[in-house]
Amino acid sequence: MADFHSIYNRSMHDPEGFWAEAAAEIHWDKKWDRVLDDSNPPFYRWFPGAQLNTCYNAVDVHVENGRGDQLALIYDSPVTGSQRKISYRELRDLVARCAGALQSHGVAKGDRVIIYMPMVPEATIAMLACARIGAIHSVVFGGFAANELATRIDDAKPKMIVSASCGIEPGRVVEYKPLLDEAIDLSSHKPEHCIVVARPQATAALVAGRDLDWSDTLAAADPVDCVPVAATDPLYILYTSGTTGQPKGVVRDNGGHAVALKWSMKNIYDVDPGQVYWAASDVGWVVGHSYIVYAPLLQGCTTVMFEGKPVGTPDPGAFWRVIAEHGVEVMFTAPTAFRAIKKDDPDGEFISKYDLSKFRILFLAGERCDPDTLHWAEDKLKIPVIDHWWQTETGWAIAANCMGIEPAPVRPGSPTRAVPGYDVQVLDEEGREVAANDMGAISIKLPLPPGTLPTLWNNDARYRDSYLSRYDGYYLTGDAGYKDDDGYLWIMSRIDDVINVAGHRLSTGAMEEVLASHPDVAECAVIGAADTLKGQLPVGLVVLKSGVDRSPSEVLPELVKLMRDKIGPVAAFKQVTVVKRLPKTRSGKVLRATMRKIADGEDYTVPATIDDPAILTEITQSLSGLGYPKAG
Ligand code: COA
Ligand code: AMP
Repeated sequence: MADFHSIYNRSMHDPEGFWAEAAAEIHWDKKWDRVLDDSNPPFYRWFPGAQLNTCYNAVDVHVENGRGDQLALIYDSPVTGSQRKISYRELRDLVARCAGALQSHGVAKGDRVIIYMPMVPEATIAMLACARIGAIHSVVFGGFAANELATRIDDAKPKMIVSASCGIEPGRVVEYKPLLDEAIDLSSHKPEHCIVVARPQATAALVAGRDLDWSDTLAAADPVDCVPVAATDPLYILYTSGTTGQPKGVVRDNGGHAVALKWSMKNIYDVDPGQVYWAASDVGWVVGHSYIVYAPLLQGCTTVMFEGKPVGTPDPGAFWRVIAEHGVEVMFTAPTAFRAIKKDDPDGEFISKYDLSKFRILFLAGERCDPDTLHWAEDKLKIPVIDHWWQTETGWAIAANCMGIEPAPVRPGSPTRAVPGYDVQVLDEEGREVAANDMGAISIKLPLPPGTLPTLWNNDARYRDSYLSRYDGYYLTGDAGYKDDDGYLWIMSRIDDVINVAGHRLSTGAMEEVLASHPDVAECAVIGAADTLKGQLPVGLVVLKSGVDRSPSEVLPELVKLMRDKIGPVAAFKQVTVVKRLPKTRSGKVLRATMRKIADGEDYTVPATIDDPAILTEITQSLSGLGYPKAG
């Protein structure tokens, strides 16, 4: 097996040679002029001058190379009691027809298409269909409310929206069409058409002239071929939480993305063509984009789309059933899913009911992997359990144990070392690299490797301000932590207002904007408090306007509902309390970090700049009323 250090060092000293070699695995319609365009720092472009089609590389090429009859996608849906298996040939034909339908309704290269869908094969087909004709997709997670969808419609300005009549959550059908209609009402930009997949669980009322039925539209469409696009053209926009209510539109290009993702399948995940790979996430998140759709298909694997939960659909054996039934070799999910399974089946009794002999490696990401969860999974599954760290912006792992290069000893709580291509450094306030084991801002020296964000949609200035302005020549990840003596990274916390709830990244700033919009609220703060199942949960503290004579029992449920209506159920915002005032510094900055420490039962020092230390006692009492700090 190749030596990790020499491969990593090569990626640092000869990035262009390194990535040009990786790029040989991709089919190009035209070769690049240069591997890396570094003429306009801090903006970098990979493979300028090259042309390719991502859909061709993910689908058609495999049919042409003899994988036409191999399964490309297995849809497994315990919530509907159904399954569907689609071969590469069938996938190509479906995608070509869907692309034809988009094109015949006016979608052209460079146009945006929003995809607001549950975990059904049509979501993958629609994404690939956009890629086929050079349209830019923007998938919006189904757990977001109409307001969030509207914000994205106004930013991306889609010509078309693809949706479905409903999603299915355990115990309830979530009708998407009313949310879609409301979002279009709220947004200033209006799409020309919506294509809606009719699911038997709910009927969608179609707006005449605007809305189209998926089946009828595809049946009437002619299949179309792949259109070559520039390597630097956007493949998709994926919105992610920032520090405000305005999400950031992370742009992904075509060329660098295809190269990096294909490279990652063998080198990080140790997966070969023909093997079954399963990422138990949602197409609405980056994990879904990269590891349900693009990477496994680029590698010629069979990918699994699972419409269910780790527990309750119907039991904590759901993951093991899918692995056994479909022959999954490598799986990827979030630690929170394992915490949910462990809670319902602490002894792992469901594991022994299934034949997991093909299952080789479990990868975890999306949030910090606590050692207890890691040990439990290792102990019960008896296979390597690999934590790895990345984010929407990078699109693939920044730090991982590269199982296809040279597995390193696992250190529980650390996602191992920087992956080839990433020069990760931990910086102090002045931008100097700190000593081993010292905490700092985890940053990546520019240029970032292929596949990572070249910019934010229509907003180079925000890209620069959010990520590149803190340290000259570095990308700021927003995470804080340290490197140990052996270069293992330890990701400990965020340096901004982003929290992580059940592996979902959410903005407390956005939640505060929602609370502040309530007519009775004068001031508010939202903090992320530790939770044994979901990692963190948002907790709201509100000060009511003077003169408001309504009781907290009237106002608080309205705030919970407002959050669900404005951000969506995924915010998991259920805990909020009224306080007389918020702790602040003398200059008026709300002391959120101190309140979080109180909620988590951590020691804290009373900040010297606090305007009135007595407030902290009141806050401690209020949080205690919500059950914080929690035991264990
Ligand atoms: N559409 C509509 N609503 C959705 C939704 C969707 N696609 N996804 C989640 N929701 C709703 C849930 O029904 C829940 O609503 P409720 O408050 O009425 O119960 C709420 O959003 C919170 O969802 P979630 O945080 O996912 O909690 P949960 O209790 O339903 O499930 C876990 C908890 C741990 C089982 C679940 O979060 C999970 O499987 N997470 C694992 C992995 C993952 O997908 N990570 C993403 C990145 S890798
Ligand atoms: P997202 O963009 O939604 O994928 O969220 C990315 C953020 O989740 C990162 O910046 C981290 O804060 C956190 N995260 C993801 N994976 C890990 C991990 N393995 N360990 C610690 N934190 C993680």
